[in-house]
Amino acid sequence: MRLHGKTALITGAARGIGLAFATAYLAEGAQVAIADINRAAAEQAAAELGPMAHAIALDVTKQDSIDAGFAEAIARMGKIDILINNAALFSAAPIVEITRADHDMLFAVNVAGTLFCLQAAARHMIARGQGGTIINMASQAGRRGEGLVAVYCATKAAVISLTQSAGLDLIRHGINVNAIAPGVVDGEHWDGVDAFFARYEGKAPGQKKREVGAAVPFGRMGTAEDLTGMAIFLATPEAKYIVAQCFGVDGGNWMA
Ligand SMILES: NC(=O)c1ccc[n+]([C@@H]2O[C@H](COP(=O)([O-])OP(=O)(O)OC[C@H]3O[C@@H](n4cnc5c(N)ncnc54)[C@H](O)[C@@H]3O)[C@@H](O)[C@H]2O)c1
Repeated sequence: MRLHGKTALITGAARGIGLAFATAYLAEGAQVAIADINRAAAEQAAAELGPMAHAIALDVTKQDSIDAGFAEAIARMGKIDILINNAALFSAAPIVEITRADHDMLFAVNVAGTLFCLQAAARHMIARGQGGTIINMASQAGRRGEGLVAVYCATKAAVISLTQSAGLDLIRHGINVNAIAPGVVDGEHWDGVDAFFARYEGKAPGQKKREVGAAVPFGRMGTAEDLTGMAIFLATPEAKYIVAQCFGVDGGNWMA
């Protein structure tokens, strides 16, 4: 029960890694706001997770939705101690086929969504005067560009940079901002990634997944549960001297 009495808002928590974080935080005694653009999935997840889980309809690309979602989460949980900026979109295309609409959508969700949810949490945490924890979901894709994945990689590089700037600005308020950079994590997200590569590299369905899994030094793709230990640790007092960092949890894919 390392998070007993704590409250967390996790964006994009209706499925995948965010749902695993919510499940792990609840098991550690926290209350969790499952904030997702997919209201029905958030409600179903919260119903399955029990009374300490709260479904919040929240679109990270819309400021009025962020304001209303945070206000509702604070009303239902009393406060927000921890924010995990987890919602994100993925896309892939050769440089010559990238569209402005796709670029704008990915930056709206992955970068502006992260920044303005972080801002909403920081304002609340500063007003309370008791510090807090903010965890941004980066990616190994933010460490190095990849052919076919230019826009997503650029958004995740921006998340790492935002983590550094926000971490440096907010630590004077006792707010620790750090990032987690997963490698390749199996789930619905990677089903979509696999489909992109099937289209652009002519691979059979599932082939890209097998290739990236075999290439991980650990020997397989990650699972969402592989990431929960870091997400819990960063929210504990033991992590209070850790500021503005990005941690790879990727089976050895990237060395910082
Ligand atoms: N899966 C991987 O291999 C991997 C690798 C590196 C980084 N990551 C990062 O980890 C995080 C979680 O990834 P995942 O695999 O669980 O993704 P996912 O696609 O399975 O889940 C994303 C969730 O975000 C929600 N969402 C999308 N747009 C939203 C919006 N505008 N507002 C609110 N919610 C929105 C979706 O409804 C969904 O529930 C993301 O930031 C992703 O970039 C994932």
